Amino acid sequence: MTLHADLNYTGKRVLITGAANGFGAATARLMRAHGATLVLADIEADTLAPLAADLGAAAIPFDQADPASVELLAAQAGEIDVLVNNAGILVAKPLLETSPLEVRRLIDTDLVGPILLTRLIGAGMVARGSGVVLSISSQTAFCGGEGRAVYAAAKAAIAQLTRSLAVEWGPRGVRVVSLAPGRSITRMTQETAAPGYTGDRGLSRVPLGRWGTAEEVAKAILFLCSDAASYVTGQTLVADGGYAIG
Ligand SMILES: NC(=O)c1ccc[n+]([C@@H]2O[C@H](COP(=O)([O-])OP(=O)(O)OC[C@H]3O[C@@H](n4cnc5c(N)ncnc54)[C@H](O)[C@@H]3O)[C@@H](O)[C@H]2O)c1
Repeated sequence: MTLHADLNYTGKRVLITGAANGFGAATARLMRAHGATLVLADIEADTLAPLAADLGAAAIPFDQADPASVELLAAQAGEIDVLVNNAGILVAKPLLETSPLEVRRLIDTDLVGPILLTRLIGAGMVARGSGVVLSISSQTAFCGGEGRAVYAAAKAAIAQLTRSLAVEWGPRGVRVVSLAPGRSITRMTQETAAPGYTGDRGLSRVPLGRWGTAEEVAKAILFLCSDAASYVTGQTLVADGGYAIG
């Protein structure tokens, strides 16, 4: 494979959260193939360990919903050039059926955790005058969706965090970007992306006529975190097969 020089991650140390499955695992594989040195973190230590061993990566178990655990991860991770805030959960329920505990867990995992980790890892980037932070938002940040109110609120906040932090950290040499995937085939969507699912308007709203894959999401992350995107900051790239424009 011939790599575009700007997509070469050799010498870059990348921390990916939620790396044991789905987008995180696909991104880890793709970035390793492009030369990255990886630090992989996830709550599922047993799933993470074999992947990390396979990729020659460091594996750090952590719980993104627990500030003390996030702090420990940041302390163990060392100097990081690229942070991929990918770990997340979905609570797919109408608000009236969502308990206060579920609301708290979702916001703690999908919003507070990434903010705290960005604050800790970003401090080193700002001090060194270089780095990239990419956080996973969602197409739901831009479109309404039944059973997605709390999740969409957290993911919209990620897009806004990205804009504001890009303004704060741009002059310090740090790019801050976000990716908003549409529904893509992972464990998180094993029901809603399954063939024959009729719970919503589904594929009829996707101009490309299919759900995304983890590998396609990984390619967008690879680009945004690389030097090929060196003049991109503050933006949330929507990779959703066109759903949001429909
Ligand atoms: N799959 C989709 O259609 C889709 C669309 C838009 C956005 N997203 C977002 O993409 C990201 C990755 O999702 P995915 O589809 O790969 O799902 P996934 O369930 O396959 O992977 C999520 C990973 O995050 C980890 N995780 C969950 N809670 C954690 C916690 N408290 N601490 C540490 N790790 C934790 C899980 O163990 C898992 O490995 C999530 O932020 C999700 O909200 C997914």
